[in-house]
Amino acid sequence: MAHFMGFGGYAPERVITNDYWAELVDTSDEWITQRTGIKRRRMAADDESTMTMSVAAAESALKDSGLVADDIDEIILATDTPEMMTPDTSALVQHQLGCRAIPTYDLGGSGCAGFVQAVDVARSRIAVAPKNVLVIGVELISRMISPTDRNTAPLFGDAAGAVVMGPEPGRAEVLDVVSGTDGGSAEILTLAAGGTRNPFNEKTLLNGDYNRLIMDGRKVFVEAVRRMSEASAEVLQRIGKSVSDVALVIPHQANLRIIDAVRKKMGLDEDKVYVNVDEYGNTGSATVPLAMWEAVDNGTIEKGDLVVLTAFGAGFHWAAAAVQF
Ligand code: UT7
Repeated sequence: MAHFMGFGGYAPERVITNDYWAELVDTSDEWITQRTGIKRRRMAADDESTMTMSVAAAESALKDSGLVADDIDEIILATDTPEMMTPDTSALVQHQLGCRAIPTYDLGGSGCAGFVQAVDVARSRIAVAPKNVLVIGVELISRMISPTDRNTAPLFGDAAGAVVMGPEPGRAEVLDVVSGTDGGSAEILTLAAGGTRNPFNEKTLLNGDYNRLIMDGRKVFVEAVRRMSEASAEVLQRIGKSVSDVALVIPHQANLRIIDAVRKKMGLDEDKVYVNVDEYGNTGSATVPLAMWEAVDNGTIEKGDLVVLTAFGAGFHWAAAAVQF
């Protein structure tokens, strides 16, 4: 049995409007709003990093859970934008939070599905031996994308979200998780430079390859809708529930049109799907925990609610979790 004990999040203070991007690249508030639903996103300050945002989200989740750093037995951190190549960000977070010498892991490169996958891994870790696991989804994408690429730059934002998970009944029980991967589609959404295939060197720097996120938006769009709705249906079927039992779906926040297509495929009313992509843009593996934290905090999620978390990202990876509050 795995339970959510507390929820937390962090978004940098600096707000970036669509007009900011319209001044830098050939785009407009109208295009971004119509095609994505995004109005604003956050951008980390120079003195912030993936680690500091993770720590801020973790501290708010710890406070919410009533636990302290010493109570945490393991950390799993999902990100595509780590503090550095090695060591991983989770190790830095362990030290900064003041945790004991516990094991920590990064779940890296699984794109926007990373947090829900990390919840699945945490669930199995808790099943093997009861423990408290801090699960973080974090992205500092603004430093990894090209500010001159209109195809990607306006879509993303920086943020972190976190949950404390444990074996004892808490605020919500993770009933089941469905996840999957299709690695055959890796080239459709990729940031290759910096890895061993395309290491950092003078050539990648001069070509601007180090921040060239390649994305075939339309193909990603179609797969995202299919995988998120299918995984949600499958996890509901596995727990013996139907869409009519669901109080709220929290989908990955990449694009309002994707969210809307998932909603229609699942046969849900608008008030059953949580949306904050307008405020934060696509914050990668942080979207789901950030939205869940917000939905708990603002009372959208109430005790007794069956909530489905679902996400899709590079890999392709996808996942859906059924959570009983
Ligand atoms: O989190 C997981 C990863 N990412 C996603 O889930 C994103 C999934 N895909 C999407 O959200 C959408 O496909 C996009 C928002 C990326 C694009 O929307 P679209 O309606 O699928 O547009 P499109 O790809 O069909 O492109 C239409 C046009 C293109 O111009 P041409 O080739 O038709 O002349 C683009 O160059 O829009 C152009 N375009 C822009 N125009 C103004 C692309 N980005 C912009 C922009 N401003 N920012």
